[in-house]
Amino acid sequence: MVDLKTSYMGIELDNPFVVGACEMTSHVETLKKIEEAGAGAIVLKSLFEEQIQLERLQLDDSLTEYDERHAEMTGIHPRMEHSGPEEHLYWVKKSREIVDIPLIASLNAVNREIWVEYAKLLEKTGVDGLELNFYSSPTDPDRDGAQIEKEQIETLCEIREKISIPVSVKLSPFYANPVNLISKMDLAGAGAFVLFNRFFQPDLDIDREVNLLNFDLSCEGDYKLPLRFTGLLYGQIQGDICASGGIYSGRDAAKLIMAGASCVQLVSALYKSKLEHLRFIRRELIKWMEGKNLDSLQEFRGRMSKKNLSDPFAYERAQYVGMLMKPDTIIKQFPQY
Ligand SMILES: Cc1cc2nc3c(=O)[nH]c(=O)nc-3n(C[C@H](O)[C@H](O)[C@H](O)COP(=O)(O)O)c2cc1C
Repeated sequence: MVDLKTSYMGIELDNPFVVGACEMTSHVETLKKIEEAGAGAIVLKSLFEEQIQLERLQLDDSLTEYDERHAEMTGIHPRMEHSGPEEHLYWVKKSREIVDIPLIASLNAVNREIWVEYAKLLEKTGVDGLELNFYSSPTDPDRDGAQIEKEQIETLCEIREKISIPVSVKLSPFYANPVNLISKMDLAGAGAFVLFNRFFQPDLDIDREVNLLNFDLSCEGDYKLPLRFTGLLYGQIQGDICASGGIYSGRDAAKLIMAGASCVQLVSALYKSKLEHLRFIRRELIKWMEGKNLDSLQEFRGRMSKKNLSDPFAYERAQYVGMLMKPDTIIKQFPQY
């Protein structure tokens, strides 16, 4: 009998399929459906600092002083008028009461005080863990990478000191050396790493000359970047790895676990194929494990990580150069070019 149980930063999950933060995880009714479809855990939609600042501006008696800024913020976030932090905290608490599977809150702030203040408030809602969504898209040429990383590590340290639920860190892949940053955050006490977030990438309509602000979903096969970093990091850090990005099937999940992930997050696959897809993915993983005579995830977690591979160069530069030096392989794959 196959057992899909896994442990994620000390939280026991019935199975490794975590529904990642998105619009779907921002309504109590949908959370219940996600639970019924068999998710192992849910990450709630992030609370953003902009929601907090906007509410503070709205509450400010001297609002007229800031008319311009207020107009700008409500323009940027037109639908946020009724979703301030109080409402967010309220529904997170409500969700905790209604849903039984582990719930992880998510926070994306800018200023240290807000990070810490809301980490504490989110902990009080009764969630099982907190995901720090370090999504930032720097535009200031004077802020260097080292400064940004230092601030993120300090934020993590302070939050770890102030709250006692497990804390995961969700990162983008766009650091000069993600492995170095992750190792430092690991020492700073992150319980897990969510690899990776997806950047919002607006497009241009060149006929109408306007920005297109659609949210692009990932595509099948996009899991290869998380796969590589999961394999590189497994066994090298204390924290767990939750792979995220382009995971669409039970077989994809098996790959990520084989590289070393404790669990995987899904978002785009569920937008494209509906929540029912969770059942299918779970069955597919079970079927694959049965075919390989595997009873538990522990039996194959990390089997194909850098640490456990007999070929120590498989994750190194040599592999890349070696592939490019064998044009025959490329010609076989793309015979008609
Ligand atoms: C509509 C939508 C809303 C999202 N909202 C959040 C969010 O609030 N916080 C967050 O950390 N990530 C958010 N994400 C990113 C997802 O959690 C996830 O990291 C990303 O979509 C990659 O996973 P996927 O390939 O399974 O979609 C959102 C994604 C989508 C598509």
